[in-house]
Amino acid sequence: MIVAGDVLFKNNCAQCHAVNEQVVGPALAGIRQRRPVSWLIPWVKNSSKVVASGDDYAVALFNKYSKQQMPSFTLSNKEITAILAYVASQEGMAVAVR
Ligand code: HEC
Repeated sequence: MIVAGDVLFKNNCAQCHAVNEQVVGPALAGIRQRRPVSWLIPWVKNSSKVVASGDDYAVALFNKYSKQQMPSFTLSNKEITAILAYVASQEGMAVAVR
């Protein structure tokens, strides 16, 4: 699960996100404490739809990131869950030297 999530994260998310530091988008560490999985799955599939629904958290976040839109992803719930498991496994790890 974590290994699958690692690959999915690198292929789809790493250009804009790291777990422990802000890149284009927010650091994803602690995301499961901030948001329920029932919010995270629709968000990853289509964040603009969540923003358009008027969800307070989504609108505030979108405005904070200068209305930069996160792309939509055609990932299954299982794949998104794997990404979340990978993120949880990396929380608090030292930021990788680049
Ligand atoms: C092109 C850049 C980009 C890519 C690729 C991207 N994101 Fe994002 N993401 C953002 C931005 C920017 C935000 C801030 C919200 C906004 O502006 O819409 C965000 C916000 C988020 C949030 C909410 C964070 C919080 O602190 O509440 C989560 C969760 C998230 N992204 C997960 C993912 C996952 C998982 C992937 C890969 C499947 C991914 N993102 C790919 C740019 C991106």
